[in-house]
Amino acid sequence: MTPLLAGAVFTARQACSDGQVKKKRGADMIVAANWKMNPALDQAAVLATALASQPFFEIKRILFVPHPYLVPMSVRLTGAPLQIGGQDCHFADHGAYTGDVSAGMLRDCGASTVLLGHSERRSAHGESSDLVAQKIKAALAQNLDVVLCVGETKAERDDKKAEQVVIDQLQASIPDNTPPTRLTIAYEPVWAIGTGAVASPDDIGAMHHIIASVLSERFGAGALPPILYGGSVNAENAGSIFAVPLVGGALVGGASLDADAFAAICTAAQLASRNEG
Ligand code: 13P
Repeated sequence: MTPLLAGAVFTARQACSDGQVKKKRGADMIVAANWKMNPALDQAAVLATALASQPFFEIKRILFVPHPYLVPMSVRLTGAPLQIGGQDCHFADHGAYTGDVSAGMLRDCGASTVLLGHSERRSAHGESSDLVAQKIKAALAQNLDVVLCVGETKAERDDKKAEQVVIDQLQASIPDNTPPTRLTIAYEPVWAIGTGAVASPDDIGAMHHIIASVLSERFGAGALPPILYGGSVNAENAGSIFAVPLVGGALVGGASLDADAFAAICTAAQLASRNEG
């Protein structure tokens, strides 16, 4: 195990205090929807049409849709200010991998980005950080941007291992030579996903400082990728989450399936973006 970074919190605060991180966050607020294995195609079409009509021009919105929906959603959202992404990809370009999808296939079906290392892939499909790193390399080679998920389980938090788990995931999942401009990190504590048990602003802030420290050691304090929070984000709590320093947006599961709830989260992000700008 890599030892906890001794100067981690200090480094992140330095990055904050010189204004670079705040400025970048204001310019790059992101609200990403992870639809997971939802909804039915006809409902997805209705949802996408509603999202396309919502006027959020000061933030970046990304929809991570089920792979079979990439083409119909890309067609439906042509010209709309929304990016489309896949929820996973294989590390290989092609081959005998039944049921898998390559990064190039995602790109050819309209994706500009891909979600990798989600805890549901890490737990239900046994994906290690080393495998995630291979997938990131494949995605970058196909000109896809990457949203990399990291986060600790409840047991790891209770054992006071949360910070070390996240540091290890970041260090092992991000390949050498990854351009920081192509990467976004989503901190998603596993115990907060789909449970309604959102992490406290203090816990989110502390972990975002740790993540910013790892990233600033890798990329430099002036080139930090955005760091999102995910886990039970909803219309009611989004504003307080976006008020936490270093939170550059949200990765939203359940609430992203409701156009009004998603719009409320986007409104909160837009307001936070203006306050920072
Ligand atoms: P919920 O917003 O439903 O908790 O899901 C979070 C998530 O897993 C997004 O990737």
